[in-house]
Amino acid sequence: MMVRIQRISQIMRLTRVPVPHTNEATYALDPGGRRWVAKREADMGCEALLAEALTWLLAREIGAPVPDAAFCDDPDERSWLSEWIPHAKHWSASSAGPIRNLEGAASILALDAVVFNEARHGGNLLLVPDVDGGSTAVAIDADEALIGHPAELTRRGLVPPDPRILAAGFPPGDWRAIASDVATRVAALPDAWLDAAATEACAVAREPHVHLVRDVLASRCRAAVELTGRYMDAVEARR
Ligand SMILES: Nc1ncnc2c1ncn2[C@@H]1O[C@H](COP(=O)(O)OP(=O)(O)O)[C@@H](O)[C@H]1O
Ligand SMILES: [Mg+2]
Repeated sequence: MMVRIQRISQIMRLTRVPVPHTNEATYALDPGGRRWVAKREADMGCEALLAEALTWLLAREIGAPVPDAAFCDDPDERSWLSEWIPHAKHWSASSAGPIRNLEGAASILALDAVVFNEARHGGNLLLVPDVDGGSTAVAIDADEALIGHPAELTRRGLVPPDPRILAAGFPPGDWRAIASDVATRVAALPDAWLDAAATEACAVAREPHVHLVRDVLASRCRAAVELTGRYMDAVEARR
C-alpha cells in the first residue's frame, strides 16, 4: 500500500512567519517555486516531526482538511513543510461565518482525539474566507500531538486529549454526529494502511521504534469512536 510523504531535496528560506511562540516557522520556496511554511526538526524536535508526519497521513486518509505537506530531506534543513495557503487567517468564531467544509472541519475533532492533539488553539486552525461571508476551515500544526511520543501516549492509555485550549467557539455547532461518523471510518482503517503509515512517518522522523508507533497508532485508531465521543463530551462541557 502506497503511503508517501513527498521529499523535497532543497528549499530557500525566506522570512520568519510573524506569529508569536512559534517553532521558528519560516516561509520557504522549493526549486519549483512552490511556497511552504517550514519548521526545522532542529528547532522543534524529532518527536514533533513524527507527530506532524503521522497526523498529516491520517488527516489525508480520512479527508480532514490539511494543506499539502512535504519533508525537506536536505541534511542541513530537515524541515517539515506545509504548503502555504494564501489569505488564511487564524480561527475566530465571530468572523468565521458559515463553515463551508462542515464534514472536513468536524473531522478535525476526530483527528485530534485520535492523535491526542491538545494544541488546536486558534493559531492552529486556519480560516480561508470566501466572498459570500463563509469560510473553509484548515487544520495546521500537529507538532504537539502526543502520538509523536509513542511511549508516553501508550502509558497514558486510551484517553482523549483535554480541550482546555481548543479554539474558542469551535466547533460552532453540534458536530458530534459528523465527528462520530468520521471516527467510524478511522476505526475501520486497514492494518496494511496503519503499517504503511507508521513506517513512512518513522522513516521521515528517523524513529527506530516502528512497532511501538504502529501499535499506538493502531490502538488509538481502533478506539476512535470512543475517543472521539469522550473528547466531544469534554468539548461540549466547556460551553
Ligand atoms: N500552510 C500554511 N498556510 C498558511 N499559513 C501557515 C501554514 N502553516 C503555518 N502557517 C502560519 O504559520 C504559523 C506557525 O506555523 P505552525 O505550524 O503553527 O508552527 P508552530 O509550531 O511554530 O506554532 C501558523 O500559526 C500560521 O499563522
Ligand atoms: Mg502553531
